[in-house]
Amino acid sequence: MSMATTESIHVPLADRLTGFPPYPLGDVPQIRRELRAKGVDVIDLGAGDADLAPPPAAVAALEAASKDPAMSRYPFQLGLPAFREAVAAWMEKRFGVRLDAYREILPLIGSKEGIAHLAFCYVDPGDVTIIPDPGYQPYVGGTLLSGGEPFTVPLRQENGFLVDIEALPADVVRRARILYVNYPNNPTSAVAPRDYLEQAVTFCRENRILLAFDNAYSEIAFDGYRPPCIFEIDGAKDVAIEFHSFSKTYNMTGWRIAWAAGSAETIAALSRVKSFTDTGPFLCVQEAARAALGSYDTWVPGNVEAFRLRRDALVAALRRSGFDCPLPRATMYAWFRVPPGTDSRTFARRALLEQGVVIMPGAALGPAGDGYLRAALTQSPARLAEAARRLGAIS
Ligand SMILES: Cc1ncc(COP(=O)(O)O)c(C=O)c1O
Repeated sequence: MSMATTESIHVPLADRLTGFPPYPLGDVPQIRRELRAKGVDVIDLGAGDADLAPPPAAVAALEAASKDPAMSRYPFQLGLPAFREAVAAWMEKRFGVRLDAYREILPLIGSKEGIAHLAFCYVDPGDVTIIPDPGYQPYVGGTLLSGGEPFTVPLRQENGFLVDIEALPADVVRRARILYVNYPNNPTSAVAPRDYLEQAVTFCRENRILLAFDNAYSEIAFDGYRPPCIFEIDGAKDVAIEFHSFSKTYNMTGWRIAWAAGSAETIAALSRVKSFTDTGPFLCVQEAARAALGSYDTWVPGNVEAFRLRRDALVAALRRSGFDCPLPRATMYAWFRVPPGTDSRTFARRALLEQGVVIMPGAALGPAGDGYLRAALTQSPARLAEAARRLGAIS
């Protein structure tokens, strides 16, 4: 046998990876760990990942389900029938929308997974998707992975942070296959008026474009505001898919459980793609999510109230620190301008290194996000106020 030294060689990566932007906050866990090791008291308001507990009903159901060997088997795309039925019942009660539990609902391993896979169902190389900038990055990721071209539309404060559908160029509309719409919005915390949703549905119907309505924050809304479901709009079912998640409503980010709702045709397409990439969310987690939905009336209002107290504390403290921060009507984010004379990445980097505060630079979510910062309501009111005080100390 030859003992010749083997030369180091390089297996080339696929071209599609070169177009990928870095994932927002990707380097933060490492920097945060180093700072904490040095004794810095880090306040992390970066990711939308609150420190609050999930519903006790979900924890108890997870524990009980884990003792049943049948629940350790492959879920497949069907998943737990009781989960599907609970989702359908909740959608009807909450939004007045009737969906077939087996043909029009699909369990997801977190809504990020479904959102990213959706493009494989509708986008061929050379096709275009319409994406809000700033916005949730899996819209871009799914498009690039399926060979499509993201067309990003800047969200402007003067326009209520709505994607300006009327201003879309005709050649983009002609080639577009998916319009991603997310209200209540991450990161701007904007909400969409009903006539805007009607406009989006009409546009998608006229142009045979899929409306991907990302409703991850439908239940985190304040001061009496109740975000709608896209299927409340006439004609939406033919052209829309909606994504819901347990992550924010129930503080279950790590459990990876969500669902998609849409026409039988769209749901079948997504299920088909997923059948080649995953085998469904863990059945015990589906059972726990079913229990979480069962505790919606008794548990969710208290959780939303916890977020409201956090919102009020953060916004008041940011204003005391000199930031012009609007009061969000929904979501778990405050979105506010960086102080004059700097940009969002520089400010966020200084916030971390000089003050031990993790915040999201708007530019990490798209170029039009520069000039803004996003702080997530992930900590207690006192810690949020302390973070805002520290941000105000950056000169
Ligand atoms: C707009 C939006 N959509 C979807 C998600 C995905 O949530 P999950 O994959 O945890 O369901 C998030 C999470 O931050 C989000 O902000």
